[in-house]
Amino acid sequence: IINVNAAKITSTIQPTMWGVFFEDINMGADGGLYAELVKNRSFEFDTPLMGWKMNGGKVKEGDFLVLNRKAADSVNPRFLRVNVHDAQRAGDMSITNEGFRGMGIKKGVDYNFSVLYSLQKTGVILHVELIDSTGKIVGSTSLTPNDNSEGWHRAEASFAADATVMKAKMRLWFEGNGVIDLDMISLFPSDTWKGRKGGLRADMVQLLADMKPGFIRFPGGCIVEGRDLSQRYQWKKTIGPVEDRQLSINRWNTEFAHRLTPDYYQTFGLGFYEYFQLAEDIGASPLPILNAGMACQFNTAELVPVSQIDPYVQDALDLIEFANGDANTRWGKVRAEMGHPAPFNLKMMGIGNENWGPQYLERLKIFTKAIKDKYPDILLVNSSGTDPNGERFQLLNDSLRKWKADIIDEHYYRRPEWFFQNAKRYDSYDPNGSKVFAGEYAAQSDKTVSVDNKNNWLTALSEAAFMTGLERNADVVYMASYAPLFAHIDAWQWTPDLIWVNNLQAYGTTDYQVQKLYALHKGTNGISILQNGEEIAGKDSLYATAAIDKNTNELIIKLVNAQDKPQVKQIQVDGKKLAANGKLITLQSDDLNAMNSFENPMNVSPKEDALAIKGKQINLTLKPYSFTIVKVKML
Ligand code: AHR
Repeated sequence: IINVNAAKITSTIQPTMWGVFFEDINMGADGGLYAELVKNRSFEFDTPLMGWKMNGGKVKEGDFLVLNRKAADSVNPRFLRVNVHDAQRAGDMSITNEGFRGMGIKKGVDYNFSVLYSLQKTGVILHVELIDSTGKIVGSTSLTPNDNSEGWHRAEASFAADATVMKAKMRLWFEGNGVIDLDMISLFPSDTWKGRKGGLRADMVQLLADMKPGFIRFPGGCIVEGRDLSQRYQWKKTIGPVEDRQLSINRWNTEFAHRLTPDYYQTFGLGFYEYFQLAEDIGASPLPILNAGMACQFNTAELVPVSQIDPYVQDALDLIEFANGDANTRWGKVRAEMGHPAPFNLKMMGIGNENWGPQYLERLKIFTKAIKDKYPDILLVNSSGTDPNGERFQLLNDSLRKWKADIIDEHYYRRPEWFFQNAKRYDSYDPNGSKVFAGEYAAQSDKTVSVDNKNNWLTALSEAAFMTGLERNADVVYMASYAPLFAHIDAWQWTPDLIWVNNLQAYGTTDYQVQKLYALHKGTNGISILQNGEEIAGKDSLYATAAIDKNTNELIIKLVNAQDKPQVKQIQVDGKKLAANGKLITLQSDDLNAMNSFENPMNVSPKEDALAIKGKQINLTLKPYSFTIVKVKML
């Protein structure tokens, strides 16, 4: 018998409890969520023509030149100068962009082409064509740039695609005679999230919105730290007009990445304004993470001297003003001018990602004082390094807890066994002390950072078991998020990942289904659930947690049966009367290797059944290898 006491509240579950962690890894942003289809649109990759091919029977040496105006524009210095002569057809003079891993094109959808141009000599017509792998044109338009006044001008044209193609290319061919400078050559689908121009891929955002996440952590991860400090994430360089956002090599475009992607850059088209907007769209509390004056400790371990840390601290203070300040403040005005006069309601911020040691503490102290002095209500998330069982973790954690840190971020990429064994991890944490953010976790089917890791039912089930322990200790654990979030099937560096995408499709893994169920059925308060007077945290491979939702007056019980056999259980519920009918939601597979896929995205997905309840008694047969949720109204 399992005993639930619905009147015995054990914790308050934070509205932020289950969230998502976004990082531009695995082509999560450029080539993924950020719907731009043109790779290297402003010729700023280290190899200026990466992604582009110049073709044509009439092309002579010097007809295509990449010019660098660094002295005049250090942020977006390069552009392409095209000398067009006697060109009449596509075969004469053209440039082709290959897209990130091709361009995903959908039949019937409009595509918005845009370019910045400067005419040196008039007389050029631009033809834009989408081409499939056989060379067939599947959509086209043309435009005549005719503003020959000095400076840069924007030309735009929209056209529909008449076929669906997974890996199309875009050809731009030139007609006439003239000289034209081109920059920011861009192509976006019109069916972006909320139809925003230059926006995000709707199917990917939808999967996040469907989870109703309590928070979104961004922009990383190691991205925050950078390979060295010059490559750290600097939010101020990611706002304002996209052509003024200085591109940076992606930290995952390195020899430290687990698979090399030499064409991986950050254009910051998805920048801090867009992150805040995304958070607002999906109802998630924004959680930006800022650099603590330390580069990635796996790489250079470069540090800014404490005497020179002020600009880093100022970035943190200014970010709070950018998010929350009114239009009379310097940074609030910037936000308002970008289109969001209302504040973004920032309540928390992280300082550092996976940083540790006395160097971290020294720097963190300075940040904490400056932020708390000016914004005492902002909650600060502190890093606790990378090793959840190690001495380093303990030392850092002890110091942070002595300081009464608001929230401490713990990361664990471990084998499924670790997750099963650690369902009690937080039972011994002091509920009156610092709170925990389980900021990055994922069960590894092979080993940490192995390219053979899979998102299978075993990994998901072990996380479901572990998460019972997070929810049972919701007075300690305030937030949790799986990591990494997105991966492009043709361009990933790290696996497993929560959501896999190709150019046209996106699906949630088994692990996604678990995260989503927890987030959708979280409740407002933890309540007591015991078997023989003990927490249900692994005995007989059974794991359980229970909550009530004060808003909907529901009882929510979550159970994980990690055995290969069914378990028959009787649950007695005291403290509240129950309705005669409830719901049973089951996520299950007999096969621990079962996976979701593009072909079968819902292979492992929740099934819902009616559940008859007799008075206080709930009788259940928990299927082998199952995650089960009981939901019933309280009277
Ligand atoms: O999630 C992938 C990486 O794992 C993150 O960038 C980093 O924080 C961790 O080491």
